[in-house]
Amino acid sequence: RKDLTGLVDVTKEEILEILDTAEKFKEINSREIKKVPALKGKTIANLFFEPSTRTRTSFEIAGKRLSADVINFTASASSTTKGETLIDTVKNIESMGVDMFVVRHYYSGSVRFIAQNTKAHVINAGDGTNEHPTQSLLDLYTIKEQKGKLEGLKVAIIGDITHSRVARSNAWAMKKLGIDLRLYGPKTMIPRDYLPFGCKVCNSMEEALEDCDVVMMLRIQLERQGIALLPSLKEYSKLFGLNKNRLDLAKKDAIIMHPGPINRGVELPSYLADCDKSVILTQVENGVAVRMAVMYLLAMQQNTKLGE
Ligand code: CP
Repeated sequence: RKDLTGLVDVTKEEILEILDTAEKFKEINSREIKKVPALKGKTIANLFFEPSTRTRTSFEIAGKRLSADVINFTASASSTTKGETLIDTVKNIESMGVDMFVVRHYYSGSVRFIAQNTKAHVINAGDGTNEHPTQSLLDLYTIKEQKGKLEGLKVAIIGDITHSRVARSNAWAMKKLGIDLRLYGPKTMIPRDYLPFGCKVCNSMEEALEDCDVVMMLRIQLERQGIALLPSLKEYSKLFGLNKNRLDLAKKDAIIMHPGPINRGVELPSYLADCDKSVILTQVENGVAVRMAVMYLLAMQQNTKLGE
């Protein structure tokens, strides 16, 4: 393996190795001088065909902290607007000596397709509704840091599950790690045809939240709804949003997570997004260390199973 295209085919041992490596990078990130020479001389290209705040910035910071040269490619300002194909774009950039691509694209499966067509390492930064593996890894890192363990925890993911690549990556990973995962959302936003085995689809918010250690809220992905009938945002907030009474069903020390961007007042009110149970900005902080770990392990492939 030279790539991280999804967590569907990554083993439990590989996931734990990434989390352990990220812990070392988190310690480095707390130092005054945060840069290490691990990827000096390597070139990383961030190819983003969809908007991003957290993932793109986080990958750029992670690459620079590892001393790699990082190039940011923005689709709207590129020759893809003149009809150049995805693979031609990748091959042209690869010809300039790029060692690693970080790719976000609106088509599910596009990142795996790129990985099959380049000798460079490829990391999935989110492909359509398929996977967002580094988001899941940073979620897992944050949960383990907060709770001291992963196995046996109860996690509720609530919202637009159908269109969430975050939910899908987390579903694959959490199953492997022995986490009790409950999913809940509007019936039109729960996938009918594809759910990793073992996830529990709940019939009510109460069932999902009961005795949970972690509550992960998702926004409605309005950009991916197609022709689905949508509840109004007010209706959605009333039926599927988190509030204090609902949160009280979870364990007393439950944490609130969200991959971002938050639609404040829809799935999550500000008083909960910003309360002391919320670890949303800790997730973002941990994203840098986790992405450093993934890039480092892939580049150092002779020393790690991830790079076999
Ligand atoms: N969590 C996440 O992927 O955020 P961005 O879309 O801002 O990268």
